[in-house]
Amino acid sequence: MEKCAHVLEETPESKKGSWLAEYPGHKVLWAELGCGKGRFTLETAQQNPEALICAVERVPDAMVIGMERVCEAEVTNVRFLRVDAVRLEEFFGEGELQRIYINFCDPWLPKRHHKRRLTAPSFLALYKKLLASGGEIHFKTDNVDLYEWSLEQFTACGWELREVTRDLHENGPVGVMTDYEAKFYSQGVKINRCVAVRPE
Ligand SMILES: C[S@@+](CC[C@H](N)C(=O)[O-])C[C@H]1O[C@@H](n2cnc3c(N)ncnc32)[C@H](O)[C@@H]1O
Repeated sequence: MEKCAHVLEETPESKKGSWLAEYPGHKVLWAELGCGKGRFTLETAQQNPEALICAVERVPDAMVIGMERVCEAEVTNVRFLRVDAVRLEEFFGEGELQRIYINFCDPWLPKRHHKRRLTAPSFLALYKKLLASGGEIHFKTDNVDLYEWSLEQFTACGWELREVTRDLHENGPVGVMTDYEAKFYSQGVKINRCVAVRPE
């Protein structure tokens, strides 16, 4: 963690509303919720140098691996936030984000825990506040129950769904894979993906 401290955002609340001014040279601000070990974070950052990516993760042991990967690759457009996504409003201003990635979030299977899912209505209301007009959520999961439920929540909350698929890699690998996704793909597990556009 110490070796890579320069990619860790110790006081993200101090950047609220001014991320792109604090880190000039980037055109858009994206957040990845639950970045885990950061395979997706690194490759997405490398492919999109115009984007500043805030990688949010509440488990430091996973995040430190992502930090090391970003440091080793000498990639400069990723900031790591060691926080719970439920606190996003403390770190980002209204309409400050252009995109949010939610990849393989915890499925919280018992019904009584559905409110904890990162696609639950309370989270969608939070993302609506923090995303700019036309802003998008890019969502991937292997979990069919979570996916179908999430599609219902997006629709019920007024989000427009695009690129809805229940087998993303049907015809070969598509896009940047996460650590979990690469493992599932190698096991032949189908990957669900959609893009949800912020309601006006
Ligand atoms: C199943 S793992 C997937 C990791 C990575 N996205 C991937 O696809 O390889 C889910 C990750 O999300 C993190 N996470 C879950 N809920 C979170 C929350 N509310 N805030 C921040 N991180 C969260 C977990 O700690 C874990 O690292």
